[in-house]
Amino acid sequence: MEKEQLPRHVAIIMDGNGRWAKAHGMNRPQGHLEGAKRLEEIIKVTRNLGIEILTVFAFSTENWQRPQDEVSMIMRTFISLLGQKAKELAQKGVCIHFIGRRQGIGPEVLKAMNTATEMTMANKAMQLNIAFNYGARSEMVDAFKSIADLVRTGVIKTEDINEDIVSNYLYTRGQPDPDLLIRTSGEQRLSNFLLWQLSYAELYFTDKYWPEFNEDEYLKALDHFAKRQRRWGGLGTIENKE
Ligand code: IPE
Ligand code: IPE
Ligand code: MG
Repeated sequence: MEKEQLPRHVAIIMDGNGRWAKAHGMNRPQGHLEGAKRLEEIIKVTRNLGIEILTVFAFSTENWQRPQDEVSMIMRTFISLLGQKAKELAQKGVCIHFIGRRQGIGPEVLKAMNTATEMTMANKAMQLNIAFNYGARSEMVDAFKSIADLVRTGVIKTEDINEDIVSNYLYTRGQPDPDLLIRTSGEQRLSNFLLWQLSYAELYFTDKYWPEFNEDEYLKALDHFAKRQRRWGGLGTIENKE
């Protein structure tokens, strides 16, 4: 695949761990553990292909509604994974950002997140955004509050507010928007993920559950992306055909 046909930024809703486990006679925690292995694989492939940014949805602001034991299992898995893998990712040049509200996340999880951030912050080979306690609406509400403060304190005027200012107050500030969104498990919805940033993303849905989404499946998605014609509201190559 040619570099110019690859997305610069891929976003993934990693869904279907629980259903995968059920389909294999296992329990939901086993599904999350298998899902974690796929995440590791997909990060490596992304890094090796030279894709600049990967944003993965790991835990939403709505996922707290799940039974307490599942939530704590996810938190424990997250802490241990970060502990085990941060060093390796650091050596591979991956820079980890956590996107989402820090408020509401337990102290042990925050500690693991801070350590992983510090270990990888100088890296340049690839940016990995891990959306954790993330919700796009709360992200936008927080941005609007910060912008309202800028107006109130006279830093900017209402008429100065533009798309760049809004983008600069989102967690993804400074990064190009995702070119490709992948969602696994057959669901075709955004579930409050990157609502602003996905405005012009190409959407790719697969029936594969996240624990089944291996390198081959990823390459298939990238191949689909390479064949898409993006027009950004214009006419693209339709223009040239006439
Ligand atoms: C995605 O898999 C992981 C998280 C949301 C944490 P699910 O846990 O949503 O799996 P399903 O959708 O119930 O199969
Ligand atoms: C979206 O999956 C969130 C993550 C993958 C972390 P969900 O499983 O929570 O989404 P819904 O509930 O099916 O919309
Ligand atoms: Mg799900």
